[in-house]
Amino acid sequence: MNIKRSSLPAFYREIGGDLQKTEERLLEMAVSDNEELQEAALKLINSGGKRLRPALVLLAGKCGSVEKNKDKLIDAAAAIELIHTASLIHDDIVDETPLRRGQPTLNHLYGAETAVYCGDLLLLKAVIAIAACGDKEVYKAVNDTANEMCRGEFLQSRAAKTADIGNEEYLTVIRRKTANLMACACKIGALIAGAGPKTVAALSRFGENLGLAFQITDDILDYIADDSVFGKRVGSDLREGLATMPLICAYERSGEKEMLRRLFRLSRTSEKAAAELLAIVNRDEGCQRATEIALSYVKEAKAALADIENEEVRRCFFEIADAVSERRR
Ligand code: IPE
Ligand code: IPE
Ligand code: MG
Ligand code: MG
Repeated sequence: MNIKRSSLPAFYREIGGDLQKTEERLLEMAVSDNEELQEAALKLINSGGKRLRPALVLLAGKCGSVEKNKDKLIDAAAAIELIHTASLIHDDIVDETPLRRGQPTLNHLYGAETAVYCGDLLLLKAVIAIAACGDKEVYKAVNDTANEMCRGEFLQSRAAKTADIGNEEYLTVIRRKTANLMACACKIGALIAGAGPKTVAALSRFGENLGLAFQITDDILDYIADDSVFGKRVGSDLREGLATMPLICAYERSGEKEMLRRLFRLSRTSEKAAAELLAIVNRDEGCQRATEIALSYVKEAKAALADIENEEVRRCFFEIADAVSERRR
């Protein structure tokens, strides 16, 4: 999804001003009296993320009466983006990624040590900001999500070592590492705006399904994207030993499962095996089937909003859901 102001007009009409304030709060929150950590943090924050998660917080806030809690909502939106940023920093260290948002990763520029502390710093700043909101439910939601994200990333690392191509574990991993944060973003926006429990539950369900579609699309892009548009190194998942949805789909339908397993095991160290597997996954319509699955989660996400009364907000959420499955970066 190219969340540029021009590509999502309705969406930006609704929250554009608050997103700008969130941007300012982000910069204020990410301060450190250590020059190198400060520089590293600002480098990533200013490197052009799509700001999808804070947008979800702000839009969800429109489903209640937020005006009296506007500052809290903006702080929460900034905090959620900080958690996301910290998770990217730590993820790039674990994944040994050279590229993020089209630029060298922090681990690449400053080394893993600085990058770890920078991620820690941002995570801590986010937790402090959430605690300052003074809402126990919001605090619990963020706490639970941070915990789930760690569990998701950890489970994925363990799964990569077994070199299995299994479906259920994949869904558990992406639910924990990605979908949870989007559900949380929607949930806390609604909570801060004082929305009722049904609205909070509906928006959480929207965020979770959106997150599943988002990660599956990301995993498809890892097979088919253009590096320079995607801003990340294509083919990373196979190099890391990760069986994601396109491979899982191709495998489920394949009559040559043993050969696929062998290529998958080799892909970690052999570019030739990875290229061969990539071609097979595309030939066997793994990406096409994965796209259908991503679209089914988009549909579920939209269905969750059936009872949201604010039509303009619902339209914006729908637009985001469509953009998620159509995105190229
Ligand atoms: C990247 O998320 C991490 C995943 C969950 C795949 P985004 O694609 O939203 O990252 P930025 O913030 O826009 O770079
Ligand atoms: C994304 O992890 C989820 C988190 C960062 C928690 P990935 O490893 O799948 O995402 P990219 O491809 O690095 O953005
Ligand atoms: Mg990664
Ligand atoms: Mg990863």
